[in-house]
Amino acid sequence: MNTNNSNLRSLAQKRKLAIGTGVSMEPLRDDPSYQQVLMREYNIVTPTYIMKFEALQPQRHHYNFEAADNFVAIAKANQMQVRGHNLVWHHSVPWWLTHEQWTPEELIHILRQHIHTVVGHYRGQLAAWDVVNEAVADQDSAGQRKRDTIWLRGIGPEYVELAFRWAHEADPTVPLFYNDYGGEGLGAKSDAIYAMVKELRQRDVPIHGIGFQMHVSIQNPPKPEDIAANMKRLGELGLQVQVTEMDVKIHDGSGTPEERVAAQTQVYRDILQVCLEAPNCTAFLTWEFADHHSWIPDFFGKPDSPLPFDESYHPKAAYHAMVEVLKIDS
Ligand code: G3I
Repeated sequence: MNTNNSNLRSLAQKRKLAIGTGVSMEPLRDDPSYQQVLMREYNIVTPTYIMKFEALQPQRHHYNFEAADNFVAIAKANQMQVRGHNLVWHHSVPWWLTHEQWTPEELIHILRQHIHTVVGHYRGQLAAWDVVNEAVADQDSAGQRKRDTIWLRGIGPEYVELAFRWAHEADPTVPLFYNDYGGEGLGAKSDAIYAMVKELRQRDVPIHGIGFQMHVSIQNPPKPEDIAANMKRLGELGLQVQVTEMDVKIHDGSGTPEERVAAQTQVYRDILQVCLEAPNCTAFLTWEFADHHSWIPDFFGKPDSPLPFDESYHPKAAYHAMVEVLKIDS
């Protein structure tokens, strides 16, 4: 049993780091063990679905804030911050939007109204918004680095800038993030994200941080020194960085089960340490916290154990490594 001063939340608080997790409504509502671990271990949470476009505006001009309002109320009652996620993405876009042809002017109107309505609704209540999610393609396509999405095709590459400006108009106080995967270390996608956000900053676009989703594997995880260098160069642009959705796949790796667990533990230890050492890394979140709630087995179609707690909510070696890292220098 974790005593008061040896859980992630209390240790991270001493290090002035927000530590958290993605949270789904079902276990938050129905599972007392889930609620107990969540409140004990974390002080910042991101809803994994209920603030997305199709969840909040399932029909045009019809907003459904009930679940997300409930989520925010529960977090507030437990002194937890909330990350809004997400305003613009190519997934979880409602049927009414994807099954119509829109002129650029119509799509701009739809997106502006969605962002103004949603960000306005939560004005002053959130610790961050993931404004644009995964707008950079995984690799170059005909010299184009932006991902080919409904927003790029329907509005043009300026949709990224517009989204940040509209979010800032609706709530000038909330930090606005660009959130992505596969660009946490150094490399082509990381450079493309850096170039995009550097240009946004040069145009005085109100972007305040970058989310490193950190969906990694024990096979070829990003090097800690590369993550640190990337965080540093983003910091030099005046940007915060947050680890927003970490999980570490263990199924892909080679080695005995014990070797795989040791490798996973080392990845959690390394990346939390990098965040603690980076002056502009302000939050560290996993994407859910117990293995049976991970998105990974369903998405990749094979079992995995990517998170710091097991299916019985027992802390794993990765959890204990994170506690040890937080204890150093504290
Ligand atoms: O809750 C509804 C239910 O009412 C409805 O009947 C059912 C019918 O489709 O859908 C249910 O919602 C599902 C939702 O998860 C809640 O379980 C959606 O279909 C399903 O698409 C959604 O999947 C989420 C996915 O993003 C797409 O939004 C995953 O939970 C979530 O873990 C995943 O998270 C993403 C991040 O947002 C961005 N980074 C990658 C990460 C993993 O894909």
